[in-house]
Amino acid sequence: MRLADQCQVDPLALVQALAREATSHGVTVLEGTRVEKLTGTGPYQAITEHGPIEAGTVVVATNMPILDRGGFFARMKPARSYGLAFRVPGLALDGMYLSADQPSRSLRDVPDGPDGRGSLLMVGGNGHPTGRGGSTEQRLDTLRAWTTGHWPGAVETHAWSAQDFLPHHELPFAGPLVPGNDHLLMAGGYSKWGMTNAVAASLALSGRILGGHLEWAEAWGTWRGREARGLAKAALVNAEVGWHMTQGWAKPLLPGRSGPPEEGEGVVRGDGPLRRPVAVSRTDGQERSVSAVCTHLGGIVSWNDAERSWDCPLHGSRFAADGTVLDAPATCGLRKK
Ligand code: FES
Repeated sequence: MRLADQCQVDPLALVQALAREATSHGVTVLEGTRVEKLTGTGPYQAITEHGPIEAGTVVVATNMPILDRGGFFARMKPARSYGLAFRVPGLALDGMYLSADQPSRSLRDVPDGPDGRGSLLMVGGNGHPTGRGGSTEQRLDTLRAWTTGHWPGAVETHAWSAQDFLPHHELPFAGPLVPGNDHLLMAGGYSKWGMTNAVAASLALSGRILGGHLEWAEAWGTWRGREARGLAKAALVNAEVGWHMTQGWAKPLLPGRSGPPEEGEGVVRGDGPLRRPVAVSRTDGQERSVSAVCTHLGGIVSWNDAERSWDCPLHGSRFAADGTVLDAPATCGLRKK
């Protein structure tokens, strides 16, 4: 299927332009300021590591909300996917492509060089639920092998991975975090279409805050009963969550591999007479031990060897090797051992 009139956007340049525009209208942008909780019932106090921020209306736009009221962690599934960029001899590609079959592959070119006249080939795919499915580095390796099989001589320049959330009923959310409260709003569940869905969510929310009306925005409401359409899928996904919770806690009780982890490796093992799950990893020559119990709702984290992080297979929280939070819904880090 071919779609006409498509355009490619550099997401970083777009975000920087939006930030400049917002700042020119008097908005203050605070970077590196993590909100840890929200108190009050309006006005609200967002508690950050650098002090509280007061607001009459709050939009929680962390994709998966950092606040559990509303239970969005049980209404969306966390997913990771992988990206690679290559320098390819000759013209790599003209256009943007997404495969219809599995395993999914998405392709596009990226302007390169100071004058933007060169181009890189960007390849994406190999997605999977966060914290599940084995080695993430192997997923990158398969993507590498697939690319060099189709473009011999391609030389890798960048590799990365990303996280998004997929709502069970397949439409993103933009509306009140809890029913009937128009001063505490959320947006998220962009299903890997954040470049368009995040913009649409911000239109829907600004319309709601400023008193406008966008007919299509109704479909994105957070409490509209349309979830019924996703009930079967929600039941299945939450049964999987239960299975991963049980499996995670059972594993450290069994005899496992002993000895220190290799460089870039992480293992979960039982510690002490009660076999409490401990996450032990070695990165940059340093061995670290933190609790393997996710601070969100007690899932047991698993090692992500591509990102060298601890990822929770239940609702997608992620932590650095030293336990620091990387991704919501968790708001505090893994306990140090
Ligand atoms: S993200 Fe919910 S238990 Fe870990």
